[in-house]
Amino acid sequence: MRTDASSIGPGARADRGEAAPAPLFLRACRGEPVERTPIWLMRQAGRYLPEYRALRQRVDFLTCCRTPDLVCEITLQPLRRFDLDAAILFSDILLPLPGMGVDVTFNPGPVLARPIRTRADVAALRPADPDEAIPGAIEAVRLLRRALDPSTPLIGFAGAPFTIATYLVEGGGSRHFEAIKSLLFSDPPTAHRLLDVCAETAAASLAAQIRAGAQAAMVFDTWAGLLGPEDYRAFALPYVRRVFDAAARAAADTGADVPRIYYAGLGGGLLEICRDTGATVIGVDWRTDLATARRRMGPSVAVQGNLDPAVLLAPAEVIRARATRLLDEAGPRGHVFNLGHGILPSTPPDHVSVLVEAVHTHQGGHA
Ligand code: CP3
Repeated sequence: MRTDASSIGPGARADRGEAAPAPLFLRACRGEPVERTPIWLMRQAGRYLPEYRALRQRVDFLTCCRTPDLVCEITLQPLRRFDLDAAILFSDILLPLPGMGVDVTFNPGPVLARPIRTRADVAALRPADPDEAIPGAIEAVRLLRRALDPSTPLIGFAGAPFTIATYLVEGGGSRHFEAIKSLLFSDPPTAHRLLDVCAETAAASLAAQIRAGAQAAMVFDTWAGLLGPEDYRAFALPYVRRVFDAAARAAADTGADVPRIYYAGLGGGLLEICRDTGATVIGVDWRTDLATARRRMGPSVAVQGNLDPAVLLAPAEVIRARATRLLDEAGPRGHVFNLGHGILPSTPPDHVSVLVEAVHTHQGGHA
């Protein structure tokens, strides 16, 4: 585990009075030259790890998310096993819901006792204040910044307003997303009021994480691609912009250069528009190949992704071959290696080691 100062690496450099270079992950996010492509994995802490499952036998999911020591422990679990280049706060995009006035349980997916359906339901919502709604997560950011090696930056995150609104209106997972789409198309003013509360909540949450020390700010828009371009421009884009504007202001206050990462699930039809969110890195799923994504988005943004998570269920040689192909396709600059969506709970942890090793040893024209 690389979680304390040691006599090698950054510590030794500091002893000689030299400034440590910025962490690899942050440099790749900025499109700067890197000696190798960094890797982290969406949902890198979670059910595929036996140590996570063991902890969850004793403690329920929401208690894990609300208890700073447990958030730290679970965030660090994957870093003890794998040589990953970034940590992501252990939390959930739906954690602020009770602070908005909405009860949510997890089984393991989110379930709302009372979905938000009417104008009156929306009017009763309030933006969540992070100090009241997610104090444990904010405290955990502070603790993690002390616990993590400086070469492993901490990613803070929030749910995109449209994706949060989708869970609020559907009341959980959904097959055809009829409830949220009915609201958008039948009663746009109410939909916009709902999106507004979700944007305020996400903006405040992400800004609080940055002020507490998060070094990158990610917005998960799992359901972005449910919308066609015109509806995305109306109901998703302006609200993501507001969240990233708040993140940029919080970063400016702290004086840190905090990359903004936008994951657009199912977003292949939206890539050019995604650039207008104000993100500096766009996360793509595997349905779009990275060479095409880069061509369509141009050099102003870096890309993150996009191995199909199911590749990690295949034998080691398949994982190595697919990782190599992806790295060759993405090129040596402005790429953060990741999966195209969260790691599957059935993933053997050994296969993650194979992937990390393959990415770290890849020779691909790096600086
Ligand atoms: O990436 C990480 O390691 C950080 C932790 C994290 C979780 N959720 C923990 C979690 C992150 C970044 C999320 C984001 C999240 N949560 C998203 C966006 C990313 C995506 O996957 O599309 C979404 C849509 C949610 C909502 C949510 N929470 C779902 C759909 C589920 C179902 C179960 C699952 O794992 O997919 C959850 C529960 C949840 N969130 C678990 C974990 C580890 C499992 C809970 C358990 O331990 O039983």
